Amino acid sequence: MSNYQIENLEEYFKVYRESVENPKAFWEEIAENHFTWKKRWDTVFSGDFDSANIKWFEGAKLNITENCIDRHLADRGDKTAILFEPNNPNEKAQHITYNSLSKRVNKFANVLKAQGIKKGDRVCIYLPMIPELAVSVLACARIGAIHSVVFAGFSSTALAARIKDSSCKLVITSDGSFRAAKTIDLKGIVDEALNECDCIDSVLVAKRINSDISMKTGRDQWLQPLLDQALEVCEPEVMDAEDPLFILYTSGSTGTPKGMVHTTAGYMVYTTYTFKNVFQYRTDDIYWCTADIGWITGHSYIVYGPLANGATTVMFEGVPNHPDYGRFWDIVEKNKVTQFYTAPTAIRALAKEKIDFVQNRDLSSLKVLGSVGEPINEEAWNWYNENIGKRKSPIVDTWWQTETGGIMISPIPYVTPTTPTFATLPLPGIQPALMAADQSELIGNQLEGSLCIKQPWPSIARTIWGNHQRYKETYFSAFKNMYFTGDGAKRNEVGYYRLTGRVDDVIIVSGHNLGTAPIEDAINEHPDVTESAIVGFPHNIKGNALYGYVTLKETVRTRDKNQLQKEINQLITEHIGPIAKLDKIQFTQGLPKTRSGKIMRRILRKIASNDISNLGDISTLLNPEIVAGIIQSRLSQ
Ligand code: WT7
Repeated sequence: MSNYQIENLEEYFKVYRESVENPKAFWEEIAENHFTWKKRWDTVFSGDFDSANIKWFEGAKLNITENCIDRHLADRGDKTAILFEPNNPNEKAQHITYNSLSKRVNKFANVLKAQGIKKGDRVCIYLPMIPELAVSVLACARIGAIHSVVFAGFSSTALAARIKDSSCKLVITSDGSFRAAKTIDLKGIVDEALNECDCIDSVLVAKRINSDISMKTGRDQWLQPLLDQALEVCEPEVMDAEDPLFILYTSGSTGTPKGMVHTTAGYMVYTTYTFKNVFQYRTDDIYWCTADIGWITGHSYIVYGPLANGATTVMFEGVPNHPDYGRFWDIVEKNKVTQFYTAPTAIRALAKEKIDFVQNRDLSSLKVLGSVGEPINEEAWNWYNENIGKRKSPIVDTWWQTETGGIMISPIPYVTPTTPTFATLPLPGIQPALMAADQSELIGNQLEGSLCIKQPWPSIARTIWGNHQRYKETYFSAFKNMYFTGDGAKRNEVGYYRLTGRVDDVIIVSGHNLGTAPIEDAINEHPDVTESAIVGFPHNIKGNALYGYVTLKETVRTRDKNQLQKEINQLITEHIGPIAKLDKIQFTQGLPKTRSGKIMRRILRKIASNDISNLGDISTLLNPEIVAGIIQSRLSQ
């Protein structure tokens, strides 16, 4: 109990040592003292990576919603659980208390039951960032239905593929969604998807934009009238520790998306513990993660982790630049947000705008800043630190994955001294290893290799829905008895980890291993550059050569390109060496990104190699329109 919240570096090292020397005792103590169980576990942990049969807290019985809601009602029923900030700043924010969340979740759970949904059934949730999204996730968990949230920016094809893969029985959606000044016809997208699916019996539709939509008789129903009639009490389903809680799809480097399956007890214990420590959460804090609940970040650190801690979690429906680029800071000021957690891509987008958007707002409530999703480049880190954190709020660069369920490597704020671009040290219970290509482990500091994790931790995904074999092959076949992350990392002289990007982003030029991230960092230091991406393309002599896509700031787009190319290569030479100089540079208006803000290198690679006949599905991109422009200027080179 005493070690639950880590308060200084010495304590971190002590707790860390205990956690790896005796992981069972470590996690057992946490599970025992901080959660509500209906029955205690028989075994803390069993299984191993090679057999891919990991189990935590087997024998225990619980319901995660009792831990996220019911147990808070006696002491803080009137505290805000979810603080909803709508897309339109003139629409009133909603403060949903724990009492009110409890009623809404119970009613929704009863509605699902009345639709014939039972424990183990899959329910697809395709909703914008409105309170019904969090409520429906929790309602599924209440009755033991497995939720599969699909980010409401995915196309109908992507949605249909996900519904079919896990044969969902019911879809929860809305008439539409707001995005800045536009609306999106979500129900129309669902209708289109369902033309391809025959597993769906019913569709529940929340009203958000009041649009005139068509409802299919016998299948579609408005949600509100059903909720109005439902009872406020729904006994939580008794779940086994290892019963699936949810499926969340993540794209693999090849093939169909993988439905990662997370189970109940281990996921709950790990996300709750890491939320508390990584954000140094205290009772009166107002915590805001800007991610969408459609991603794992939203599952673990908007819904489950914060609510299990009895926190106030902000849910924001809008985008960072509507009505202007100060929106994030307006919300921070208005609600006195204490922890702010976002992605490097958002930071870079905001950093290139006028600093007045930041300076006109009072950000003094902030105590902790978080970053997640990709390596944060030094320039963005410094901007975040200086302008948002005013050099007093530590930045936690949190490394983790959909598959890991929770944050794995991260500073603990006010405990771990930070270094720009370093995710720093593993959290308790996590044992990273750097592996060489010959399968040997790299022991010692100042080394770089493939990042693996040595021992199972409570929130690791247990399988890929319907394809356990693929799970084994993807994560446990590259290195013996280790979980392979797919990322590269280096360890510096004090043992801090720096993530260097996906291992598949490494480009071998004339026999030299070049990571794309450091080259991009060098380019991004140029004052005229907003963003860049490096890919390899085939070269007769070098094997591969480097091709750079560079987005310039709007004000300098008329500058002499030859001169700019020279300056960029000069910077690379200075930072990495002449070996990393680019053979070709193409100036772009923007880069193709996934919805979670990752640059789609697959597409850029093809364009660089002049292989544009089959770009694959680009419909799930954030900005598919950007691709045509890049191809056009490539062809006119
Ligand atoms: C991949 C996982 C986990 C939440 C969102 C993404 C990259 C994530 C960091 C970070 C460097 C990072 C990795 C990882 N990544 N966080 N702090 N520093 N890289 O989840 O979509 O499953 O992606 O995102 O490459 O493998 P995801």
